[in-house]
Amino acid sequence: MKSELPMGEFLIINGPNLNMLGVREPEVYGTLSLDDVKKYTEEKLAQTVKLEWFQSNIEGEIVDRLQKAATQNYRAVIINPGGYAHTSVAIHDAIKILKIPVIEVHLSHVYQRESFRQTLLTAKACLAIMSGLGKDAYWLAVKSQL
Ligand code: DQA
Repeated sequence: MKSELPMGEFLIINGPNLNMLGVREPEVYGTLSLDDVKKYTEEKLAQTVKLEWFQSNIEGEIVDRLQKAATQNYRAVIINPGGYAHTSVAIHDAIKILKIPVIEVHLSHVYQRESFRQTLLTAKACLAIMSGLGKDAYWLAVKSQL
């Protein structure tokens, strides 16, 4: 018989400017707000898992959250580091502390964009990366770890 219990708890981290989804460059990132994306993701997963969402525009807060996650009991972490994906050694190193899968997602297809987005620093510390699937990235990333 299929269990009715949640299959695990996931931490979903969004970095800088992702709190501005729906307002910032809608032609690139879509018209949904971050809250809309959360609702969409939860609906797609039909309550089979518990998701904890964290957003910060501050690099050190993301590092702190990753360090804390290393002491918690998540099944996996999904992270969209925003612009820090291309620059942050500190977030890369914090991801390395975790012993659970970390999946990096990007709404846009970063390889079709400016050359500075084609250095993917934090992704080097992740199990996998998804880029270009828009709002579907988050639930697909969770699903890949069930
Ligand atoms: C992004 C891509 C990054 O290059 C950009 O800085 C973002 C959003 C994405 O989801 O497509 O803030 O991570």
